[in-house]
Amino acid sequence: MMTVPSAPSSAPSSEPSQASTTHLALEIASHPVSKPRTKSWATYFAQNTKRWQQFADGVNFQTIELKPVFIESIKTFQLGEQSEGRTLKALAEQYSIHHNDPDYLVAIQQFIAEEQRHATYLAQALQANESETFSQQWSDGLFRKLRQLCGWEMMISVLLTAEVIAITYYSSLVQASSEPQAKQLFERILQDEAIHLQFHGEYLCHARSRNGAIRWQGHRLFLFMVATLVWCEHRHILKCNFSSFVSFAKRCDTLLMNLTAL
Ligand SMILES: [Fe+2]
Ligand SMILES: [Fe+2]
Repeated sequence: MMTVPSAPSSAPSSEPSQASTTHLALEIASHPVSKPRTKSWATYFAQNTKRWQQFADGVNFQTIELKPVFIESIKTFQLGEQSEGRTLKALAEQYSIHHNDPDYLVAIQQFIAEEQRHATYLAQALQANESETFSQQWSDGLFRKLRQLCGWEMMISVLLTAEVIAITYYSSLVQASSEPQAKQLFERILQDEAIHLQFHGEYLCHARSRNGAIRWQGHRLFLFMVATLVWCEHRHILKCNFSSFVSFAKRCDTLLMNLTAL
């Protein structure tokens, strides 16, 4: 059975602090769940929006310094963050109806808003470094096509794969960055990506709770192929955190398989 982060069970009584953000992001509940906790996730995302406002108030995005050698790579990830999620919303709506779980659509909308928030702040950081954002890019286009091809489970599988890659990528950027504000921004995004992995993982594990072994194996293979492409394109950053492709691929596999306790 998988483990999940402890999303808050009730609305916050006061403005949450940055410390509580870190705590939430790192806290992985020890109790397994038998069913996705949709209401808790919707509450969590609402609280996290407030935390982001607090975080952003403390950062001067006009003075963030990015290493020039990393900018092209960051532009690719910025583009990946800014999807409108139309297909995802449509699939989430179907899921909500089919499972009588209306809050799932709400949680997915909040999740999309969170990714768009990452895109917005990364764009501001790029602009501060006199760099325009990409409007299209081949690997981002490939991911978008894959997400549109199939049904809900395939969509969530592709998203989960992207979350695994995002965790390894932003953790590498944290390692690689010396400028304090850039480091803070990447750390903050990394916290969200770790939670996103748990969020989608909770639903995918539930969907694969019966006869899911083959689908998980297929997912591992897909993740390995994506990791190979990502390493080829972004290894100059990933090498700041992973000594080799093998260690990077192993970390990706572990992040995925930690969602299950097969
Ligand atoms: Fe993101
Ligand atoms: Fe994410």
